[in-house]
Amino acid sequence: MSKERESDQRVRDRLPENCLEGLEGRENPEEKVDEIRLKASRILIVDDQPANIGLLQRVLTRAGFQNLQTTTDPREVASLVDQEVPDLILLDLWMPHMDGFQVLDSLAPIITAAVYLPILVVSADMTPETKARALSQGAKDFLHKPFDLVEVLLRIRNLLETRHLYLELQRQNEILEARVRERTKELEEAQIEVIDRLARAAEYRDHSTGQHTRRVGELSALLASVLELPREEVELIRKAAPLHDVGKISISDAILLKPGRLSPDELELNRAHTTLGAELLSGGRFPLLKMAEEIALTHHERWDGKGYPRGLAGEEIPLTGRIVAVADVFDALVDERPYKRAWTLEEAVAEIAKQREKQFDPAVVDALLYLVDTENPKGRAMIREIYDLDEVYDPEGIHAIR
Ligand SMILES: [Fe+2]
Repeated sequence: MSKERESDQRVRDRLPENCLEGLEGRENPEEKVDEIRLKASRILIVDDQPANIGLLQRVLTRAGFQNLQTTTDPREVASLVDQEVPDLILLDLWMPHMDGFQVLDSLAPIITAAVYLPILVVSADMTPETKARALSQGAKDFLHKPFDLVEVLLRIRNLLETRHLYLELQRQNEILEARVRERTKELEEAQIEVIDRLARAAEYRDHSTGQHTRRVGELSALLASVLELPREEVELIRKAAPLHDVGKISISDAILLKPGRLSPDELELNRAHTTLGAELLSGGRFPLLKMAEEIALTHHERWDGKGYPRGLAGEEIPLTGRIVAVADVFDALVDERPYKRAWTLEEAVAEIAKQREKQFDPAVVDALLYLVDTENPKGRAMIREIYDLDEVYDPEGIHAIR
């Protein structure tokens, strides 16, 4: 028999008959899974004495633990743990080059960041001072040398069970957080959908196509991306802009569908669709509803301060309102309405350019001009996609106007 086998046999002989009872397979399938997970735990043994490492390895292997890593050099511990965080560290205290306390120190950031990384200190020196110091530096339990083999296994098992409970708790929390995020998103989408239907209902009353709100959203998102707004803002504006006229739901047919010019009183009532829309959208806790409220309130403000409802000027008007102002008018121009023919793309762009620094923010107008520029086939293709246009755009007219 080899020397190692002899010593292995000695370990087996020293283990009491029933010491592994309860540590092996269970009847209950869930417990079996737990047991498999427990036995797959990664255990790092740090001791400068190869004989101590050998003994612990044999005891643990016999108990079914397969995932063991060992080192006799304490200077390696931090990098080993950094490569892959173990489930348990068995740490000798008195070693050359670096004692166990210094190892604990070097592991402090990892211990703090880890879910629950148990460190079992193994030493012949177990004075109250040593214990207190090790505990204060992150150790979770102690083992006295020479080992009591039953105690070794039971303490290791206890620490690993706690570690796995923490991991399970973390996993459950992550699942729960993901569910909450999903439900919140569903709730937000449901609210938006209801409001979107309202906006469409309002639109059906004065536009026959029902496509105006969608196109204003798409064009606003295009303008926002040319203006280099963050991706999330671009997506928000795509969904929020179609709600700009939701307040029209509160405007009477007599005003909304009146073919002729509106009287000053009627004009005032019609203009109230901005404040009514904002009111309808107010109090929302989601960013999308907040942006939609801002747009509903400000999409008829003008860069020169002559707009409504508040007469804000320049950058006093939120950028979202300035973007939707351009998209809304541009869309109305290229759209066919009962009172007007659909303008060509060229005519519409020329009209928007004419209102640069008057009705509209010059930066937003420039973004539109950039999109329809002949040098920018990608932008033009996007505009064509929104408006289903196949006309060839001639920018000369616009450059003459500017
Ligand atoms: Fe409007």
